Amino acid sequence: MESLALYIHWPFCLSKCPYCDFNSHVREKIPRDRIVAALRTELAFEAARIGARKLTSIFFGGGTPSLMAPEDVAALIADAKRLFTPATDIEVTLEANPTSVEAGRFAGYAAAGVNRVSIGVQSFDDEVLKFLGREHSADQARAAIELARENFLRLSFDLIYARPGQTEQNWRAELATALDLAADHLSLYQLTIEPGTKFATLYARGAFALPDEDLAARLYDATAEAAAEYGMHAYEISNYARPGRESRHNLAYWRYQDYAGIGPGAHGRLTLGGQLYATSRHRAPEAWAGLVETNGTGITAETPVNAEDRAREALLMGLRLAEGIDVSVFQQRTGVPLLDAVDQSVMRDCVDEGYLTIGPTHLAATAEGRKRLDALLPVLAK
Ligand SMILES: C[S@@+](CC[C@H](N)C(=O)[O-])C[C@H]1O[C@@H](n2cnc3c(N)ncnc32)[C@H](O)[C@@H]1O
Ligand code: SF4
Repeated sequence: MESLALYIHWPFCLSKCPYCDFNSHVREKIPRDRIVAALRTELAFEAARIGARKLTSIFFGGGTPSLMAPEDVAALIADAKRLFTPATDIEVTLEANPTSVEAGRFAGYAAAGVNRVSIGVQSFDDEVLKFLGREHSADQARAAIELARENFLRLSFDLIYARPGQTEQNWRAELATALDLAADHLSLYQLTIEPGTKFATLYARGAFALPDEDLAARLYDATAEAAAEYGMHAYEISNYARPGRESRHNLAYWRYQDYAGIGPGAHGRLTLGGQLYATSRHRAPEAWAGLVETNGTGITAETPVNAEDRAREALLMGLRLAEGIDVSVFQQRTGVPLLDAVDQSVMRDCVDEGYLTIGPTHLAATAEGRKRLDALLPVLAK
């Protein structure tokens, strides 16, 4: 039976962080019942057309899913397990913000079937948290991590680094705190300025500066080095885990496997009748719910992904992973031999310069290559 990963988007947040361009919305009163009903309808819609699948993971992302009521999370998990065939070791992750109110719901989420949380800590420095527009303190983040450890077998948290004024020394100190508190997984992101965000306006105005490329590269290397000392390997550009504790859900994206995304703005890559489709949904929560109420789904576009795009997407995703791309799986999934999907002379140059490795079964980017993937991919992909 073909496998499936399921993404469920909760589109609301208490406030909008100035760096964030995720599909998140602030409402005085969240239309909880309407959104949950629409999510359940959309889940049933997808299940009816996808057919029997082994469900390997569910991921509640946002937005801020820790604003959801545990009983709503329970209802969606129960629906998903009934509508698909859950793997015995199904991974069920929920993204949580570490305010005390949200951490107070952890036991409820565990009872609902969540077995992994990913907490948006961002920093252990209160000044930085203020700069990032966060609603929680470093102490609250520590408390949330503690509480998560008591309730879940698996736990990850996110930090944002390469921030204005950050030195290698202070990042190493913050990272040491993080690694001491970490369980089996960490997501460590370099701050990026996303168009349309408050930070984009401030940055353009010169309100703050970011570390230059050299410093950013040193911070990245320091991150991988410190994580490795704690037994966590950099299995993806921004993700670190103990062996076997990688995020199975995110691995499905990077390995270019099928996933269904429900909720406002959620994307999907789904094989239907032997053809891979890219699906997208209305981003505005109320408009999306309106579509679901009329049509059973908030899908606004569903396009077949042609062979060229399949190959390009699989390459883009797979080279993010330290394990790289399995050459035979690539061909099976995309219909294109991997060597036909790349410019072979660029590939050989990249191998010579130490950015790529090619073996009998895998093409992979080295740590140096993964650092430069944005520059490398446009010239490598055909
Ligand atoms: C969907 S978001 C956050 C989930 C949750 N609402 C939270 O804030 O903790 C996932 C993660 O992406 C990271 N992120 C979002 N925007 C970013 C940016 N511009 N630069 C770096 N990391 C970013 C943050 O670490 C965040 O926790
Ligand atoms: S970072 Fe998280 S809490 Fe902040 S706006 Fe984005 S999704 Fe919402």
